[in-house]
Amino acid sequence: MKILITGVAGFIGSNLAHSLLKRNFTVIGIDNLSYGVKDQIPKGVIFHKIDIRDKNISQLFEKVDYVFHLAAKNCITDCQENPLETFDINVNGTINIFDAALKNNVKKVIYAESSAVYEGSKVLPSKESDIAPESIYAISKITTNLIAKDYFKTKGLITTGLRYFNVYGPRQDYRRTIPPVFSAFIINLLNNKRPTIFGDGSKKRDFIYVDDVNRFHLMCIENADTNNDIFNIGSGKNYSIKSIYKNITDILNLDIKPIFGQNFDFEAQENLANIDKAQKIGWSPKVSLSNGLKKSIDYIKEHVI
Ligand SMILES: NC(=O)c1ccc[n+]([C@@H]2O[C@H](COP(=O)([O-])OP(=O)(O)OC[C@H]3O[C@@H](n4cnc5c(N)ncnc54)[C@H](O)[C@@H]3O)[C@@H](O)[C@H]2O)c1
Repeated sequence: MKILITGVAGFIGSNLAHSLLKRNFTVIGIDNLSYGVKDQIPKGVIFHKIDIRDKNISQLFEKVDYVFHLAAKNCITDCQENPLETFDINVNGTINIFDAALKNNVKKVIYAESSAVYEGSKVLPSKESDIAPESIYAISKITTNLIAKDYFKTKGLITTGLRYFNVYGPRQDYRRTIPPVFSAFIINLLNNKRPTIFGDGSKKRDFIYVDDVNRFHLMCIENADTNNDIFNIGSGKNYSIKSIYKNITDILNLDIKPIFGQNFDFEAQENLANIDKAQKIGWSPKVSLSNGLKKSIDYIKEHVI
């Protein structure tokens, strides 16, 4: 089976490529390396450096069975400052990928949405219907869902939308200006530096380990119940950033106090997934937060520090 991944140099894409290669799939990877880094791409991926908006992209889709479309502009502050570019990449780029898939009779496109679409909702845990996007990033993501619905109705393209919550695990890019919270904490602590918590640390997030996400990715290939639908992919539990910090310092046996930095008002105070829909078709998260943290720490010790 031939699988194409957009955003293969990114965090989720590189983990997905790794898990598909282990199962002997042929993996074609696409990325423009705007955020992602080449050394993240697992050996064995047939890599093409290309932008998802490139009109010639469809020739890379020849004989592809399934597409995972993960490439996106996803730094929330950057999206807010650059709405035109955000829509160009996240919406027009997605249309280009859907068109290339249709042209090449791809069986299905599995595309990344985001839990950010619930940011304005007061309902917790959030069901797939509780959408209330408020930021440019979230509005661009919900638009891809509307396009997917239209493409099924008018052109017959089969898709699955994945509304990831806060995915964490190995290969999170620690080199970014604002690195993801887990890797930022772990790397600073291992270097005996005080990590920064933005805000007072009371914000709560639903964290899901990347291997659990990959098990759902495989279900999207194997299980037709996922067709033309959208699923929350979270753990169904949430934790404050402060408690995550304490968990990490406990595992590392360190007593380093964090610095409390600027609060980002645009961020929701809390997110939490209702995962009933994914559970009904046989998926559930298996990796506990403490195990996921230990695995993330081991990876950083081995590959980063
Ligand atoms: N990581 C999470 O917790 C999370 C949560 C919700 C949604 N998502 C969504 O999941 C997807 C993957 O997330 P991630 O954490 O792996 O992000 P990431 O930033 O690590 O990876 C995205 C990749 O897309 C590439 N890219 C960006 N613009 C491109 C373009 N125009 N053409 C080609 N490649 C381009 C980047 O270089 C990067 O390698 C994204 O769509 C993101 O919005 C992620």
